[in-house]
Amino acid sequence: MAIQVESKVDQIRSQLPALHAKAYMNTGTNGPIPTIVHEAMAEMMRAELEEGRISMDVWKTKMEMKPAAREALAKVFSVKPDELALTQLTTEGMNVMIHGVDWQRGDEAIITNLEHPGGQLPLYVVARRYGVQIKIANLGIGDGDVPAQIERLFTPRTRAVIISHLAWNTGALLPLKEIIETCRRHGVLCLVDAAQSAGSMDPKLRENDPDGYAMPGQKWMCGPEGTGSLWISEERMSLFQQTYVNYGNANYYAVDTQGGYFTPAAGAARYDRIATYYPLIAGQLAAAKWLTDDVGTEWAYDRIATLGQLAHTTLSNIDGVSVITPKGNMVGLISFNLADMEPNDLVTKLFDRGFILRTIGEPACVRLATGFYNTEDEIENLALAIDEIKREM
Ligand SMILES: Cc1ncc(COP(=O)(O)O)c(C=O)c1O
Repeated sequence: MAIQVESKVDQIRSQLPALHAKAYMNTGTNGPIPTIVHEAMAEMMRAELEEGRISMDVWKTKMEMKPAAREALAKVFSVKPDELALTQLTTEGMNVMIHGVDWQRGDEAIITNLEHPGGQLPLYVVARRYGVQIKIANLGIGDGDVPAQIERLFTPRTRAVIISHLAWNTGALLPLKEIIETCRRHGVLCLVDAAQSAGSMDPKLRENDPDGYAMPGQKWMCGPEGTGSLWISEERMSLFQQTYVNYGNANYYAVDTQGGYFTPAAGAARYDRIATYYPLIAGQLAAAKWLTDDVGTEWAYDRIATLGQLAHTTLSNIDGVSVITPKGNMVGLISFNLADMEPNDLVTKLFDRGFILRTIGEPACVRLATGFYNTEDEIENLALAIDEIKREM
């Protein structure tokens, strides 16, 4: 009797119900939730409801959950658990880093034209508060000599570079190692927005060695909204002051109420979110475990990149489509336009035909994300749908 073996992709897709209504091509905003993540969150909510939030067993489970989540995330990113703070989103990690620097009036910070508000807004706050001058490195779409484009703006007052590993708007993968080496030569901090790289590629954190790396949980990691993590290596932790504290961020037994100070919590937990809703941590933990134990991160990274290349080629071959993303330095985000059609109209027409994509404001375009659970057929069908839309114009 012939045994029908489901392909790995089919098996994974069967665990992601959101993929079945439409072709899910906007993981760059929010990834699909695996059933196992939903169940972990539901179980924590059930226990809270039925057994009581502070009943001894439930409390014990909760107390074990953050260390377990740090452990599971450390496995995904090949770092030490103590170097990971559990945050609410990428933007919180960017805030922790940017507010954590001891800025002096007249200091300078460099940000690029490709940054997201998650990096821009906290920098604007410190610029106002401390008189930090902001310089913008114009990287175009991100396919040039990025380290040189940044280095050109350095002065003796430059303190930090705020930069994405993977640009959310053009999909360009930036040469992080070289950028960081350039920063180090000048004694400048490199604070990285990893919203689009975490979970879509190997971040090589030990090798690249950024000063800090702010990651989301809800995008390529397939975790719940309201989760994220921030990697700061042991060696660099002293560079960032705490900005907000709750007892979880302090060594509870080393609070000096006479002198008015405390010893921070050991490791990156000092930067943890200050309020915790445990069903979220349960979901974050389950998602990280699912990625390493069921999906396999290397397999996922490879598939995201392979599908990304396929999507780039397929879209580039459509008459009237111009792809913005540089094919030689990209992963799973592809930005493009269809001639004579507003991005928003194209996204709406594609949605009506069963495809979930999104628009980007600057450069104005449509953005497609290739998750490891997308299929070659979906990409082919997207091309057919664009052809159909063209014929109706
Ligand atoms: C590059 C980049 N940075 C920051 C963010 C904000 O992410 P979060 O909602 O996790 O703070 C996004 C979200 O799309 C992004 O693409």
